[in-house]
Amino acid sequence: MTAASPITRSDLADLLAFYASAGVDDALEDAPVNRFAEAAPKPAERTPMAAAPARENVQQQPPSAPSRPDMSRLPDAPPARAPAGAATVPDEAQAALARQLAATASTLEQLRQHMAAFDGCNLKFTAKNLVFADGNPNADLMLVGEAPGRDEDLEGLPFVGRSGRLLDRMLAAIGLDRTSAYIANVIPWRPPGNRTPTPHETEICRPFIERQIELVNPKVLVNLGGPSAKTLLNTTEGILRLRGNWRVHTTASGTAIPAMPTLHPAYLLRTPAHKKLAWRDFLEVKAKLRALT
Ligand code: URA
Repeated sequence: MTAASPITRSDLADLLAFYASAGVDDALEDAPVNRFAEAAPKPAERTPMAAAPARENVQQQPPSAPSRPDMSRLPDAPPARAPAGAATVPDEAQAALARQLAATASTLEQLRQHMAAFDGCNLKFTAKNLVFADGNPNADLMLVGEAPGRDEDLEGLPFVGRSGRLLDRMLAAIGLDRTSAYIANVIPWRPPGNRTPTPHETEICRPFIERQIELVNPKVLVNLGGPSAKTLLNTTEGILRLRGNWRVHTTASGTAIPAMPTLHPAYLLRTPAHKKLAWRDFLEVKAKLRALT
């Protein structure tokens, strides 16, 4: 048997090209690493990435605005993160802190800052950016998806990849675009490898999206896909049964917002025969917006 020849730069380039073509977009190590057991990063170390604003917010934020809320001024605030090694899964304390931070945000910009400073969701530690929102916060229509994918994570904006391009076409079909609609996700950080967010992660992030909806106060809400519909419409029904039927999303302050669950653009890319169903749902949305404005 001959000795193994050394790996060259060109071998490595071929290997990387193979991984890329196979859809591998996360670099993992050979040996598993328990990230939860590692010391939590100091807030100062995380600030540049965690607080990296979405493109639209760069313009909106005045230069003097603080990038983080003063956690110590929140009444009875639990620690921003469980002590290192104390918990391996998100827990109720993090959800309670998320609720408190969401409730104390009185503007969208404050909410974005509170979310950027929040360390209670593990997804933040593998994501590159907070994906807060895109579009017009004064729009009559708000659409909520599930969670950012790779492209969204890189850009810090929701629905900018393939499914985003389809969403733009669906909006255009009813005469709208990102200047006349506001877009966000239930989960603002990309789950690694685009895995499904866990119920814990969803519960921790739920107060943020609920407050975001309350602050935008749209006339009509569209839930893109089952996870958004189930989380925000308090139902366990599947999206194929839910879609096409008006529901109501009720905010913490009691405002009832008509909500249309519809099929997620990523699902439509895989199942183009169902585009006609989404088209019908969007026509319903158009008619509702006409009736309410
Ligand atoms: N899918 C989603 O649910 N949200 C995005 O932002 C992108 C893809």
